[in-house]
Amino acid sequence: MTNKHTLTVTDNATGKSVELPVREGTHGPAAVDISTLYRDMGYFTYDPGFVSTGSCRSAITYIDGEQGVLLYRGYPIEQLAERSSFLEVAFLLLYGELPTHEQLNRFSGVITHHTMINESLKSFYRGFYHDAHPMAIMVGVVGSLSAFYHDSTDIRNPRHREVAAHRLIAKMPTIAAASHKHSVGTPFIYPKNELSYAGNFLRMMFSLPTEDYAVDPVAEKALDLIFILHADHEQNASTSTVRLAGSSGANPFACIASGIAALWGPAHGGANEAVLRMLAQIGEVKNIPSYLAKAKDKNDGFRLMGFGHRVYKNYDPRAKIIREMCHQVLAKLGDANDPMFELALRLEEVALKDDYFVERKLYPNVDFYSGLIYKALGIPTNMFTVMFAIARTVGWVAQWMEMIGEPNQKIGRPRQVYDGSPQRDYQPLEERRSAIIGATEGSFANGELRGTD
Ligand code: SDX
Repeated sequence: MTNKHTLTVTDNATGKSVELPVREGTHGPAAVDISTLYRDMGYFTYDPGFVSTGSCRSAITYIDGEQGVLLYRGYPIEQLAERSSFLEVAFLLLYGELPTHEQLNRFSGVITHHTMINESLKSFYRGFYHDAHPMAIMVGVVGSLSAFYHDSTDIRNPRHREVAAHRLIAKMPTIAAASHKHSVGTPFIYPKNELSYAGNFLRMMFSLPTEDYAVDPVAEKALDLIFILHADHEQNASTSTVRLAGSSGANPFACIASGIAALWGPAHGGANEAVLRMLAQIGEVKNIPSYLAKAKDKNDGFRLMGFGHRVYKNYDPRAKIIREMCHQVLAKLGDANDPMFELALRLEEVALKDDYFVERKLYPNVDFYSGLIYKALGIPTNMFTVMFAIARTVGWVAQWMEMIGEPNQKIGRPRQVYDGSPQRDYQPLEERRSAIIGATEGSFANGELRGTD
């Protein structure tokens, strides 16, 4: 990051001015460094949702939302999708360079030999109801890993950080597949070291102790590609959550658990599950107009899931790749004429011609098509966001390592604009009139809210 020039900020109320440095990176908009603004001018900045706020510097991923560009360590996602593998991309995101043949073999070997989980963790799964959402299990189990790996939680030790990163990348598929097995009541399947990352996951998900299981190469390749596309994405909500948790010095397993929790929301990684549910709700092409009308109606909470993006105001490059892959995978694995895929294609076609979506630059994002491929691979809908979490763990740990490695790393602690009650004195109980406390008042008054629910 280099200093480009300064920006003069003048307070028209006092005439006071300050020069703020403008910092420039390799690509993309420069940023005004406001870190001295409060000290020199007594003002905070205000940017709900961080629409115009850069939270950090990073050398990992670059997105150009206007052009629909996504680079991992400078390499275009289209080239990595076509020529790389998920573990090679993991190495690239973690270490900043593409590995040599020997480095890739060694890295793949390290990840492979960390895929098992402690046997004691199995009893943890038994504590969940069979119908627990797999994301709830993922948050709990991943967060508990620090209880098992005391030898890799000293975040100031680079070797501990690296081992924790390897363990997390390696164990996510095992933990994820086990959460599915728990929900269907069949035995957990151990990883097999001779299988690929994606192949191992498919086998742990779908094989049974009672019969042999052969990994389908089409499914393996499709899954490896989907993992590449989901590996990292700059400072999205879940990555920012991981960075903020990590800034307090929390152990890496707790930080990744916080990222999983943030990813779960339907506005973020939960959208892939929501897209399939939306397509099922729409049902047929003839219903598209009425659902588009709902999506445009401000009084209707319905949104077109899988559409829109905070950064991409052009087609999400990942969606383009996945859309093309959909055609191939459905033709080979699923039903090439899957009515849901046909519906998705028509919905996209109609929405992209609709002024509301065109004016707001709402395009399909990575989640719009990914669920259709997961469905063709036989992955249950409630596992879709878990798939996202498996892949994004690489980005989360890479961003966490970058943040911890910052020379002036400090705890993240945003401020606010306070617009609550002015200071006031305590009122004795007998002098108080009934407080207007919104929707819960009725609940309190009628005794609906109890402490034990
Ligand atoms: C991911 O950040 C990342 O990089 C995320 C991600 C990653 O890899 O980490 O790319 C993964 O999370 C992809 C996004 C998945 N989410 C969805 O598909 C859910 C549906 N999309 C939206 O909820 C929404 O588009 C967001 C949350 C993705 C982005 O919301 P923003 O940037 O806060 O935009 P906004 O809500 O201010 O919307 C701007 C306008 C509004 O209309 P107006 O008030 O201007 O009239 O567009 C409208 C919104 O109502 N709008 C939509 C819409 N998305 C935005 N209207 C209908 N359907 C939608 N999907």
